[in-house]
Amino acid sequence: MKFIVNGGKKLKGEIDVRGSKNAALPVLAATLLTQRTCTIDNIPVIKDVLTFIEIIQSMGGDVRWLSERKVRITNKNIDPNRISRDLVRNIRASILLIGPLLARFGEIKISLPGGCHIGPRPMDIHLDAFKELGFSVTYNKNGEYYHIKRTKNIHKKEITLKGLTVTGTENMLMYAAIHPLKINIAALEPHVEDLGKLLVKLGAKIKGFNSHTLEVIKPIQKTGSAVEHTVMYDPIEAGTFIILGAATKSDIKVKNVPVESLTLTFKKLEEFGVILEIKGTNVFVKGSRSKLKAVSKLITKEYPGIPTDLQAPFGVLATQAKGETLIFDTIYEGRLKYLYELDKMGASVNILSAHKAIIKGPQSLVGKNVESIDLRAGATLIIAALVAKGESVLHGAEQIDRGYEKIEERLTKLGADIKREE
Ligand code: EPZ
Repeated sequence: MKFIVNGGKKLKGEIDVRGSKNAALPVLAATLLTQRTCTIDNIPVIKDVLTFIEIIQSMGGDVRWLSERKVRITNKNIDPNRISRDLVRNIRASILLIGPLLARFGEIKISLPGGCHIGPRPMDIHLDAFKELGFSVTYNKNGEYYHIKRTKNIHKKEITLKGLTVTGTENMLMYAAIHPLKINIAALEPHVEDLGKLLVKLGAKIKGFNSHTLEVIKPIQKTGSAVEHTVMYDPIEAGTFIILGAATKSDIKVKNVPVESLTLTFKKLEEFGVILEIKGTNVFVKGSRSKLKAVSKLITKEYPGIPTDLQAPFGVLATQAKGETLIFDTIYEGRLKYLYELDKMGASVNILSAHKAIIKGPQSLVGKNVESIDLRAGATLIIAALVAKGESVLHGAEQIDRGYEKIEERLTKLGADIKREE
């Protein structure tokens, strides 16, 4: 699957941000904790989410779509032994099955989650934490799965994760929703709080949101009335579209922006000379008037730092900014590969290490044949192709579908010349 893009022209109009992939996934995972009916709204209709829902159904979960983005799930009689191993291997988000299924059943067999090629995606922090809680973890070589089961009845009231991890925190929070725990060294990404909001609706009492210490004081009520939850809008999609407007020097309106989750991103965009008008959850990008200038450093960090998922979009913005920008992705060691593709298109890139690169601009880009290595890099290459003069062919479009819903339809509405081809 590929996208054919003809770039070099300004865009105009408005684009709606969808629900957050990285909030929808843990929220869907949390429905496994309970027999109660959970109605989840504002779900992004993207590959990773649809696969995750199929995984829930493979265990016997009752899933009904009530509208395009609203689903009702009842996991009354689910059997984790029936889980589809092939589906689980497809997405990194399968790692989010560990917390709820161990909490509810005390034992699971889970095959290695897949995911992007952005560096090794270890699970050591997750698994070490569950070992501390009395679970044994064995790896079955021929079945290629982890067998995790409770072997010792340890009633720990507190756990300290050995590193900051978003899904590690989410797994621990879901486990603690049935076995109350205090979690030290918790990640505080907005989607962790979104998950927490659903757990509170299910009856849990949780302290410490927006801090690195989360404490579940009271567990969820496993039976009772149905609950409803609307997934937060996606800060990464929002940031990607705002950067799209700035890099193509277009005046566009981005709607449903979770502004409160993008504080430092807005500060960095201002430093790049991007002119924005923020009105509620609408962001007006004044790309035609923005004089883009390089920033000395673009460093990604855990929240509230600049999100690593926006590192690549910022990288393409830097190619259009006057001067030299140092890109430093502190989170992943395999997330600069898109720069080789930008280099092919004419960008001036100097890769210093697996984490660092210097980008010099402004540099006009020329359409080329490029490869979308992971979903965020893929979205970045679409931006680059829309900046570039001439035709680009983006291979690996299915990578982009994992995180951006109907991307070519939505960009066409902005006047982009982008077509999908098998
Ligand atoms: C989540 O991945 C997101 N995925 C990622 O988004 C995002 O890039 C990442 O958080 C950082 O914000 C989902 O939420 C489904 P981590 P996660 O555990 O939880 C190391 C996207 O494009 N680590 O916070 O897997 C790890 O190698 C995706 O939407 C361990 O060493 O990220 C990395 O260097 C890509 N051992 C760092 O921690 C572990 O057990 C942060 O990883 C776990 C993580």
